[in-house]
Amino acid sequence: MVVEPKVKGFICTTAHPVGCEKNVENQIRYTKENGKIDGAKKVLVIGASTGYGLASRITAAFGMGAATIGVMFEKEATGKRTATPGFYNTRAFDEAAKKEGLYTKSINGDAFSKEIKDEVIATIKKDLGQVDMVVYSLAAPRRILADGTSVSSSLKTIGEPFTQKNWNFKDNTIGEGTIGSATEEEIAGTVKVMGGEDWMEWIDALVENDAIAENAVTLAYSYIGPKLTYPVYHEGTIGMAKKHLKESADAITKKQSAKGIKAYVSVNKALVTQASAAIPVVPLYLSVLYKVMKEKDIHEGCIEQMNRLFKDKIYGNDAVEIFEDGMIHVDDWEMRDDVQSTVMDIWEKICTENFLELADADGYWDDFYHMFGFKMDGVDYSVDVEV
Ligand code: NAI
Repeated sequence: MVVEPKVKGFICTTAHPVGCEKNVENQIRYTKENGKIDGAKKVLVIGASTGYGLASRITAAFGMGAATIGVMFEKEATGKRTATPGFYNTRAFDEAAKKEGLYTKSINGDAFSKEIKDEVIATIKKDLGQVDMVVYSLAAPRRILADGTSVSSSLKTIGEPFTQKNWNFKDNTIGEGTIGSATEEEIAGTVKVMGGEDWMEWIDALVENDAIAENAVTLAYSYIGPKLTYPVYHEGTIGMAKKHLKESADAITKKQSAKGIKAYVSVNKALVTQASAAIPVVPLYLSVLYKVMKEKDIHEGCIEQMNRLFKDKIYGNDAVEIFEDGMIHVDDWEMRDDVQSTVMDIWEKICTENFLELADADGYWDDFYHMFGFKMDGVDYSVDVEV
């Protein structure tokens, strides 16, 4: 069938298989062009099908030549419904890795569950013996706990509601968006889903089963961003979860010190993803940030970020590059004083009349459509494709 984007507000309900494949191909090409990275050789990526997790897996496989096991939660196509982008991305990754002679195994299921942990560990034991790197890159709306209860994560403020300038997608006007404040239950739920508890359970399970090597490295991703978005992010519900993630990194490193396993949090750059599009205020910040970073020729997407993370911050030098706050930062260019002061100057004066001139709305939408395999150069969208 001919697959077209069906965008409803901030979500696209279709994905293009050939476009997704192209997206993966482009990331592989970038990785190869940027040269070999001398790093881990057997890598487990949890949340490996889109965004930062997919870029981590591509960097591990095509940059470091690593065998990879990826875990993801994606839907196959049914009837006239296309599969999710992560399903097509994973298929494209697996094919490309096999062609290159690289070991690859993708396990589609709920990473929070014991069943999937057991399946992954059995696969490691059977095929690889042990892994020497674990990337934990889940972004999930909910988690089913061992007793069957479901907890949800939310994107809300803590304390007062927050109102700021906001981009109305419907008519490209700049108005105001308000984010409501969370209940105690919503805060706790977000920490349970997006904090570090499950990451720690993964590492415990791998250690107990002798499926992780001595001196292995494990990574999870965080975001801080500018003061402007603190109420909705850094000081909001998700910020609490990210605080827990950092505490979990420290706890993992301490607990596994006998094996020399080290857990790190890497603070990454803000990018368009399915989650960030849904948060009021954030898309406007992103479109201004893109404009400023592109003008300064320092704009990066997920693959550029992960390449720099693995190459320069983790494996490039004698020691992992850790900042004063105990974390790795590849948001360093986003947070540069000259970048942030220009973004804030624009933020002060941006309005409906000057929006298209002062922000990179096209760049935002390009990234949005690319996530679902649309608007990719070199893809003929008028032809029938097998979904
Ligand atoms: P994403 O939505 O693109 O990827 C999430 C991945 O998790 C997908 O592979 C998905 O299949 C998988 N997943 C979700 N629920 C699952 C489950 N129950 N079981 C197995 N797999 C599951 O998200 P993105 O943006 O790449 O985020 C990854 C991490 O990076 C998150 O911790 C996020 O907070 C962080 N981050 C994101 C930034 C951004 O601007 N997008 C900035 C800095 C950090």
